[in-house]
Amino acid sequence: MKLRYFSHSAFQITTEDNQSILIDPFLDENPTSPVKSDEVNANYIILTHAHGDHLGDTFKIAKRTGATIIAVNELANYCAAKGFNVHNMHIGGAHKFKFGKVKFTIAHHGSETPEGNYAGEPAGVIITVNDKTIYHTGDTGLFYDMKLIGELNKIDYMLTPIGDNFTMGIDDAVKAVEFVNPEFAVPMHYKTWPIIDAEPENFKNKVEAIGKNCKILQYGQEIEL
Ligand code: NI
Ligand code: MN
Repeated sequence: MKLRYFSHSAFQITTEDNQSILIDPFLDENPTSPVKSDEVNANYIILTHAHGDHLGDTFKIAKRTGATIIAVNELANYCAAKGFNVHNMHIGGAHKFKFGKVKFTIAHHGSETPEGNYAGEPAGVIITVNDKTIYHTGDTGLFYDMKLIGELNKIDYMLTPIGDNFTMGIDDAVKAVEFVNPEFAVPMHYKTWPIIDAEPENFKNKVEAIGKNCKILQYGQEIEL
């Protein structure tokens, strides 16, 4: 399987049988993404929450590709009301899809629709494809239950925000990596705008100082897991 980073919190997982799973595809209005929404394929789109920088181009992409949107119940219902294929889930629940397993976790943040309505609780998501497990924390502050997530799941790649202001900053994200104990930490949600101008190299140095691995993905870069 492959993991591609578009920038911000937007990623793509491509399975060996070529299924494409997008996470939080914020591309067209994202000043750091080298890829635009009409260039990506999707079978599924997983949303951590409904803020514009995560819901992003979901509707444009789903309309073109027929992708199924996977989200917590309230957000999935919002998408379904707009005519899209959805799979409703909620925090703590897991489901096996054709491509692998998805489980939603808590995240300490907010979530509202573009119209300003409640969109359910924000979430993180644990995605297992074959023998690899990715934990995308969503937008969140640090929380101690990350330790439990690390105990119950062998996380290969932990995708964690470091940008501060809206989410964990670097020091809290390093603590989160300590709690989750992944094979690799991957920073996200930084430098999209001046307000989240955190330096991924600083995060990497601090992660390595506690004896953990960090991989900084370049905007648009795809790696084989
Ligand atoms: Ni957010
Ligand atoms: Mn965000």
